[in-house]
Amino acid sequence: MSRILTGIQSTGVPHLGNILGAIMPAIKLSKEAGNDCLFFIADLHSLTTIKDADKIKHNSYAVAAAWLAFGFDIEKNIFYRQSDVPAVCELQWYLNCMTPFPMLANAHSFKDKSEKLSDVNAGLFTYPVLMSADILLYDAEIVPVGKDQEQHLEMTRVIGRSFNHQYGETFVIPEAKFHTETMHVQGTDGNKMSKSYDNFIDIFLPDKKLRKQIMGIVTDSTGVDEAKDTETCNVFGLYKILADSDQIEAMRAKYAATNSGFGYGHAKQEFFELIVAKFEKERARFNELMEDKDLLDTELKKGAAKAQAIASEVLGKVRSKMGFK
Ligand code: ADP
Ligand code: TRP
Repeated sequence: MSRILTGIQSTGVPHLGNILGAIMPAIKLSKEAGNDCLFFIADLHSLTTIKDADKIKHNSYAVAAAWLAFGFDIEKNIFYRQSDVPAVCELQWYLNCMTPFPMLANAHSFKDKSEKLSDVNAGLFTYPVLMSADILLYDAEIVPVGKDQEQHLEMTRVIGRSFNHQYGETFVIPEAKFHTETMHVQGTDGNKMSKSYDNFIDIFLPDKKLRKQIMGIVTDSTGVDEAKDTETCNVFGLYKILADSDQIEAMRAKYAATNSGFGYGHAKQEFFELIVAKFEKERARFNELMEDKDLLDTELKKGAAKAQAIASEVLGKVRSKMGFK
């Protein structure tokens, strides 16, 4: 039995890249026998960049609704909002006092922004310590993350080990499990799809808005009666991730044809229809959940109570080892 834990920042509504690259694989992992999963919405981490309370709240609901709509089993597993278990902040303080300043000064998350120190808040500086607390508080054994989180995981291991060295065996030292890089969903401009590049596709938008986003996919100027290159086309690149092999072959033939009157607009329309058909259930469920925030709150609170039970035990051990009990 492995305890798996991961956090999802609530910086926006999950887009197609997040869904295919993170949500669906994590849900698959949670269904494997013997895995006990804690997945949480890292809203306290989002506070390092988002100060608008309504936005933080809305994003957290959207992240929760997306995970539930894609079938994450919250009865079997634990799904919670980080801020609903404030024990993590207490643990962060203890860990702050064990963390060498130079290690944090060396973190990419800080260094990338450190050119203009007046823009850096202390929360951003200690971001890796809060992440360590997230992980160590729940005796997590395996932490699935993107490769960009490798340094944070390494810091967590260093902090956990140094605590264990100082106070005796207390924390489980976690292993990172990196997402395979094979799933790289491109955005509407051909670069990696990301909230930060404004090139994402939000499948949860109403049809009209979703279609508009898809019609915005960047293509070259090859005309309707000319053959088109599937290798370089952004629409085809996205279509083939979701379509089955027959659909892909049919689309490939349309790209190869000349004098067919088939243009990129038609390809985009087919991609739009594919998304609508493929995610019909998930889109409907997402919208139902977003209309029922009380239900989301109830489920998140239930998750937080389960998480709190584990956190209290670990924190109790930590306090007594540090002389606070
Ligand atoms: P964003 O770049 O939109 O801010 P995040 O950094 O919040 O996305 O990513 C959350 C998770 O979603 C990451 O761990 C990563 O595995 C996955 N992810 C994000 N963008 C993509 C993408 N374009 N293709 C595949 N997976 C992605
Ligand atoms: N920093 C992670 C990210 O940006 C999110 C996160 C916060 C996290 N706490 C965590 C991931 C604990 C794994 C474990 O993706």
